[in-house]
Amino acid sequence: MPFEGKNLVGVDIGTSAVKVIQVRESGKGVHLMKYGIEPLPPQSIVDGHVMNRGAVVDALAKIFRDLKISQREVAVSISGNSVIIKKLNLPLMKRDELEEQIQWEAEQHIPYEISEVEIDYNILWQNPEVGQMDVLLVAAKKEEIQDLVEVVRQARLRPMVVDIDSFALQNVYEVNYGYNEGETVTLLNVGASVTTVNIVQGSVSQFTRDISNGGNSITDEIQKQLQVSHDEAEAYKAGGSLDSQEVIPQEVDGIIRNVVDALAGEIQRSLDFYMATTNRGEVERILLTGGTAKIPYLRSAIERRSRVQVEPLDPFRRVLYDHRQFDPQVLKTQAPQASICLGLALRKQKERV
Ligand SMILES: Nc1ncnc2c1ncn2[C@@H]1O[C@H](COP(=O)(O)OP(=O)(O)OP(=O)(O)O)[C@@H](O)[C@H]1O
Ligand SMILES: [Mg+2]
Repeated sequence: MPFEGKNLVGVDIGTSAVKVIQVRESGKGVHLMKYGIEPLPPQSIVDGHVMNRGAVVDALAKIFRDLKISQREVAVSISGNSVIIKKLNLPLMKRDELEEQIQWEAEQHIPYEISEVEIDYNILWQNPEVGQMDVLLVAAKKEEIQDLVEVVRQARLRPMVVDIDSFALQNVYEVNYGYNEGETVTLLNVGASVTTVNIVQGSVSQFTRDISNGGNSITDEIQKQLQVSHDEAEAYKAGGSLDSQEVIPQEVDGIIRNVVDALAGEIQRSLDFYMATTNRGEVERILLTGGTAKIPYLRSAIERRSRVQVEPLDPFRRVLYDHRQFDPQVLKTQAPQASICLGLALRKQKERV
């Protein structure tokens, strides 16, 4: 069977850009075959809703054309408010009983009409001695899934798997770092409008949450306070300017710090919530990724609050690639934005969503 039949193409439709990755897995490991990123105009995606379908379809078509990817089967993901993930502690029961119980549990825990959501679950842990089990309940709004599936189909692609950002993040972590059963690590992906938190112990997710905040709020604040365009604000945020002659206003640094501090505070509230509701291990380290992780101050702001060491999560840490095809320096610069997409590219056909 050709390799293309195994791994799906990872397609990450983010608020700021569309990313596409194709990998091949062999006995030696994961090989990077294709990688492309295409920015989206502002407001193309708002609160997880595709507002500018044409822009997303064009960006997808352009990447597939430019990179000459012939495989059409893709894995996509959703994140944000439309996804609800809850860990349930239940009395030990058989699969068919659980199937029924899950429906009931979902009605208790999901703040949406049950008919509006797609439900999935995963047994995390079971212990016959104490007669208990932990189950991860995942619910996602059908409307959002359909929105995404439709836009992907319009680009003449076949969505085979609809994943969740948080699980894609865990996937990319496991492939690159392996896992130590006893170790508790917080995986953090700070994007443009969503921050995904996934606290994993060994290979098991103990807590996950999407915070509806990210790098966009920094851009918005620069734009508002300095009365500049979106593109200008984006450039200032990244430490540059649209016109190379121009000096970055001195206020920029302070604005970035204020917004980043607020964001770090929100992240800390999730970590506090986890600590208050668990009897499991303390978080030993935080691995940080997502485009907004390129702001150096974010790392220290999180570190100061959490008192936990923060390291960059490198999605290409154990990924093999041809240095003539991909410049290691360029890949390193783009790595933070590639994590979720790489996690999706690791998905295989016929795997459970
Ligand atoms: N050098 C940089 N400095 C600061 N911010 C940056 C830099 N490069 C990218 N960003 C920011 O990272 C964000 C994009 O990151 P990413 O690609 O992870 O998000 P996304 O997937 O498009 O959005 P989301 O997942 O939230 O829908 C944008 O807010 C962008 O401004
Ligand atoms: Mg993203």
